[in-house]
Amino acid sequence: MTNWQSHYARRAARMESAEVRDLLAAFTRRDVTSFAGGIPDPTLFPTAEMAAAYAAVLGDPKRASVALQYSIPEGHPSLRAWLAADMTRRGTPCAPENVLITNGSQQALDTIGKLFISEGETVLVGAPTFLGAVQAFNAYEPRYDELPGPESNRTPDSFRGPNGGKPKFGYVMPEFENPTGRTLTLAERNRLLDFADALDIPLVEDSPYETLRYSGEAVPLLITLAAERAGGIDACRVLHCGTFSKSIVPGLRVGWIIGPREAIHKLILAKQAADIQTSTINQMVLADVAETLVASQAEKVRPVYRARRDAMLAALAAHMPAGVTWTEPEGGFFIWVTLPEHIDTTALLARSMAEASVAYVPGSAFFAGGGSRHKLRLSFSVTDEATIADGIGRLAGLVRSALAE
Ligand SMILES: Cc1ncc(COP(=O)(O)O)c(C=O)c1O
Repeated sequence: MTNWQSHYARRAARMESAEVRDLLAAFTRRDVTSFAGGIPDPTLFPTAEMAAAYAAVLGDPKRASVALQYSIPEGHPSLRAWLAADMTRRGTPCAPENVLITNGSQQALDTIGKLFISEGETVLVGAPTFLGAVQAFNAYEPRYDELPGPESNRTPDSFRGPNGGKPKFGYVMPEFENPTGRTLTLAERNRLLDFADALDIPLVEDSPYETLRYSGEAVPLLITLAAERAGGIDACRVLHCGTFSKSIVPGLRVGWIIGPREAIHKLILAKQAADIQTSTINQMVLADVAETLVASQAEKVRPVYRARRDAMLAALAAHMPAGVTWTEPEGGFFIWVTLPEHIDTTALLARSMAEASVAYVPGSAFFAGGGSRHKLRLSFSVTDEATIADGIGRLAGLVRSALAE
């Protein structure tokens, strides 16, 4: 028998299936109410519109021959043009050359890792942060340090290494962060840009939930603020990652990076080596429907997700014992719950599924360097209000009994 382990590259040691994912998979049962997955509700998908859009492309022999053929790595021209126009409309003048189409924003993160990180270099991430980003960056063997949050009093210089080396970039989710649901204020965004300016490092803005705002006022994108400071997108220090996964559907795997064309040009080469290009037909269909569907889906899904968020917040307030706190997101899918410090949410998960029939993601899954074990992430995206109220009631009952033990 071949000992495969002995043949893997060193970086394979960092490619581990998360303990939590295995636990959740083992419990994928019908009677478990899952607040674990961060996926959109499939009953809200614009299936008929997508079917018509594919039929229109494939029904036209000329377009079909383009749609089913190889295409260029940077992305289909009509989709790049739409994304550039959309960014321009939102206040940041942008050309198609500023856009790279990727297989979801997950590939955007991997491609950024590939271009920027050499082994042992430092990447700044939040604590907590998005697990998928850490998994993407891990293949390039970075170290991690904590991106300064609103409460941090670390100076930019404290991020420099002994030889003056500095972090390669900071990774941040300014809107409805996964897992905390938190949104950075304008002042916090400006402080982050001040910090990046002081160290002269790029920032990666990951913004998959942008169209899912249920309350509060929109804040300018980090790339918009950075482009204003720098006198244009080509001089700015932000790479903005977007996706149709939450604004239309995730299954087409179409996302993008928008940024200065010099960096985009190099990212195109890195992406080309990975997969040549993103699906031609999916890009053409999205270029046809994006103008109407991004807006109509937002109108359709926001009231549904808003009601679910409100139901979850109300249930938490009604049932959770004193000493438990949680975030109140203005959008996205997630609420971040903090239990009293001695409760380990990873240990509690098996009991939660077995005794309360409720799944969540333990907080420890979201820390690049290990972190607090008394927090957990709840997602309200795929459960109706009544199921949310019942499930949170049962979870709160379990927390009460854990506190009493
Ligand atoms: C913060 C964040 N970034 C990126 C992604 C990846 O999204 P996709 O690759 O579907 O665009 C997700 C998915 O849930 C996410 O939550």
